[in-house]
Amino acid sequence: MTDNAPEHTAQQRQLLSLDVNGETHELLTEPRRTLVDVLRHDLRLTGTHVGCEHGICGACTVLLDGAPVRACLMFAAQAEGKEIRTVESLADGTRLNDLQQAFSEHHGLQCGFCTPGFLMLAEGFLAERPEASKEEIREVVASNLCRCTGYQTIVEAIDDCAARRRAALRSRLEGTAHHNGDSRDSEDENTSETVPPGAACEEVPCGSTTRSR
Ligand code: FES
Ligand code: FES
Repeated sequence: MTDNAPEHTAQQRQLLSLDVNGETHELLTEPRRTLVDVLRHDLRLTGTHVGCEHGICGACTVLLDGAPVRACLMFAAQAEGKEIRTVESLADGTRLNDLQQAFSEHHGLQCGFCTPGFLMLAEGFLAERPEASKEEIREVVASNLCRCTGYQTIVEAIDDCAARRRAALRSRLEGTAHHNGDSRDSEDENTSETVPPGAACEEVPCGSTTRSR
């Protein structure tokens, strides 16, 4: 190294603040560290897996502001200021969420190595496209690699979960409409006040994911 060469030491680190699964983590890390390495090694969130490390397999898929991304393809620093969700955010303690449950019921996994990536891919996709057809689901899951299942059971699981979420939303909407109708009737009898427009919608997490923060 000449006197004029820039100093480069292994100790070069930067302070990062990452919002992961609803918690803020501050850590000192090297700027070159990928998001998946920081999640697994610094934060010990080892549910996110690493397969190919160059964007092909999708095992490292996490959600960034709700959209699925390959965590091996980005620096952790690029995720600052974003809401990161990993597979650990799905279950409530030991209780699986509905998507995980559907994977289990439909045998959507064998070795399970690819499963965290598929779960986060599907979670992000269904939040965006709750009405997705089976064909659309099939197309989306083609972006991740599974060497065990043949994909059919994964597609079945996601499709079943989507159908159940739609049914649950419909029944909540109907219940809310019914409830508001009853309230409106009794209000009409007693007062001239009306229910504000959109009040029913606020009670329903339209297109929401299953995270509880
Ligand atoms: S490990 Fe990231 S795409 Fe394979
Ligand atoms: S279940 Fe084994 S790689 Fe997908």
